[in-house]
Amino acid sequence: MQHLTISGLQWGDEGKGKIVDILAENYDVIIRFQGGHNAGHTLVIGDKVFKLSLLPSGIVRADKLCVIGNGVVINPEALHKEITTLQAGGIDINERLKIADNAALILPIHSHIETLRGQVQKIGTTARGIGPAYEDKIARRAIRICDLYDKTHLKQQITVLTDYHNIWLKGMDEPPINPQDMIDFTMQYRDLLLRHAVPIVPFLHNLAAQNKRFLFEGAQGALLDIDHGTYPFVTSSNTIAGAVAAGSGVGGNADTHPFKLGIIKAYCTRVGNGIFPSEDDGEAGDILAENGAEFGTVTGRKRRCGWLDLPLLRHTINISGIDGLLLTKLDVLDTFETINICTHYQYQGEKIDYLPNFIPDNEPLTPIYHQMQGWQTQLRGAKSISDFPQQARDFIDFIETQIQLKIMMVSTGPDRADIIISDLPDFILGDYSNQT
Ligand code: GDP
Ligand code: IMO
Ligand code: MG
Repeated sequence: MQHLTISGLQWGDEGKGKIVDILAENYDVIIRFQGGHNAGHTLVIGDKVFKLSLLPSGIVRADKLCVIGNGVVINPEALHKEITTLQAGGIDINERLKIADNAALILPIHSHIETLRGQVQKIGTTARGIGPAYEDKIARRAIRICDLYDKTHLKQQITVLTDYHNIWLKGMDEPPINPQDMIDFTMQYRDLLLRHAVPIVPFLHNLAAQNKRFLFEGAQGALLDIDHGTYPFVTSSNTIAGAVAAGSGVGGNADTHPFKLGIIKAYCTRVGNGIFPSEDDGEAGDILAENGAEFGTVTGRKRRCGWLDLPLLRHTINISGIDGLLLTKLDVLDTFETINICTHYQYQGEKIDYLPNFIPDNEPLTPIYHQMQGWQTQLRGAKSISDFPQQARDFIDFIETQIQLKIMMVSTGPDRADIIISDLPDFILGDYSNQT
């Protein structure tokens, strides 16, 4: 009864939502464990497109229970909007959504502070208040959903929070936040939040005792991890697969510990600022952006594009403890005559295979590429990897050999149907294998 974790191994937008949607078929409970509405997960199911930010991607399947874990920071207004939009599209949510009552809230004060501090420009954040909300959580002054059980207690907690932030706002010559505004905001969504709230640990462990299978859906990617990512150009949560236990309260024992699937795009993208050694800001980057429709789901920003970077992948695979890989957006490379894969960097006169934590401005890191022949054929529609042209199979083989992990699934288009399962363990597949 092994659970499954799906997490991104690059800078996000690897196609996690699409893969979670597909594999959710075989799982009972789909659980988000970190991040917030900075995530944007797009699902394409025939002529329907769903863009999810806070709700687990399992929500589009009518028989799945979805859980937002305690590791997620929740903006109640964004939650309300997402639920309303989905319900207007005919997706019934009520009994299928549960939210950890110890999850911390994002209040309007958080995005206000983020903007005033200039982090939206400096880091290139999504301006959703994610960083300041996690800061309050770590500093032990966050408002959690369970604070809403008692209105008097809630008001006291919010006053403590606004008193703290008003000291800084005063120093910035900014008008103070009126605690009553934050109380009114929170009270407006109290019923909604409490309707879905559960004590997550007994809730999930009771389900586990009934042999229910959990699929943990990562947001962002391992290179945006607060500890192991490209700091300071990262998000404010641990995004790696190992964050599941802290962000959901499910550790997993020898029988149930999650199998960890890592999602990689066939090239790299990044939204926001920060190092990107294999970035191509020339013609190739433009073609990747155009073929891959690389525009952010959340902010609409054009994503920076570049080639697959193996030193970075080795790093994120190691820290995440990945058991198998899933390659997405291979079709985006269809038109290239030659394809680059970064295998090493040239740094301070040496050839290295890792990303140094500090790179002085005057000593840039230069990617060293292995160049491969492109296949220049449409991959979409292929039913198995053996249907691929030799060049595409060589591309997959090269990654597997370099990384020493199996590519278990390949995605060749945005639609749920554009998927090839090559080597997934039976316990993940369930009945899905019979449907393809
Ligand atoms: P996530 O944040 O990891 O869930 O990824 P996003 O949904 O933000 O970005 C991935 C984008 O690529 C979405 O628009 C998907 O519909 C699309 N997509 C997913 N897999 C594929 C694929 O294999 N090929 C192509 N061309 N598009 C894909
Ligand atoms: P999904 O789940 C891509 C990036 C932002 C910025 C940095 C910090 O769709 O893969 P934040 O608002 O989190 O403080 O911004 O992290 N970022 C993402 N980039 N995909 C995401 O999520 C992201 N979530 C945050 O662009 O560089
Ligand atoms: Mg995304």
